[in-house]
Amino acid sequence: MTVEELSSSSVTRGLATWLIGRKVVYYPRLASTMDTARRIARRGTPEGTVIIAGEQTRGRGRRQRVWVSPEGNVALSVILYPEISGLPYLVMIASLAVVHSIRSVSGLAAEIKWPNDILIGGKKVGGILIENEVKRDRPASAVIGIGINVSLKASEHGEITATGLNEASGGEISRVKLIRQLLVEIERFYLTLPDGESVYQEWRGRLAALGKRVTVTSDSDVLEGIAESVDGTGALMLRRPDGTLSRVVAGDVTLREGYGV
Ligand code: BTN
Repeated sequence: MTVEELSSSSVTRGLATWLIGRKVVYYPRLASTMDTARRIARRGTPEGTVIIAGEQTRGRGRRQRVWVSPEGNVALSVILYPEISGLPYLVMIASLAVVHSIRSVSGLAAEIKWPNDILIGGKKVGGILIENEVKRDRPASAVIGIGINVSLKASEHGEITATGLNEASGGEISRVKLIRQLLVEIERFYLTLPDGESVYQEWRGRLAALGKRVTVTSDSDVLEGIAESVDGTGALMLRRPDGTLSRVVAGDVTLREGYGV
């Protein structure tokens, strides 16, 4: 078996995008693509620049979690300078791009768990982290971070609720193909902004938990209820047992009946 080469040129060669990936920088090893992306965004790198790491030594997830990303998986960050009104759509764009790309390279049907987890068969296969910097005298800069488990054997990291694409598909998924498709899909959705209506509609339609009984854990609260809807900014509308509707902007959702794990 030949080992696939992941590099800037293997990603950009013949890439059919004009914005996302016009500059791709590959590092065999980084602490976190988010930090490198943030640093070069501050220096004004072109919009659409992508930072890819072969492996990350200090990958991070939402809510100060560690994101384990050894060699053989996908860890990248995309730098964008959207209108401020476009910021809420970035997590939707990234989630949809991941779901479409996984389908295209593996045939697997992935789902989105609010707000930004990607699941296959109820197990987490990917996650999205968005970090924005809004300054008064400059356009906003945003970094979309995407981590996808490809060769990761989650059980070896003590994770029974996670999986990798190779494990889930029973094959060998090409990281180069997956990343190239991701850049195409991100561009396709990003270019529909500032009108995010179609992105919002599709994202809402693909959320796994809508209409179900859930527990939402945030930094300050644990709330129970029915995940009734999501609003246009991506916030979860939770119908509480007393009939009131709570708007939740961040947290982790657990299905009361489980995700079928
Ligand atoms: C989450 O599930 O909480 C989000 C995980 C995001 C991980 C990606 S991997 C690429 C980028 N660099 C990081 O340090 N984190 C994101």
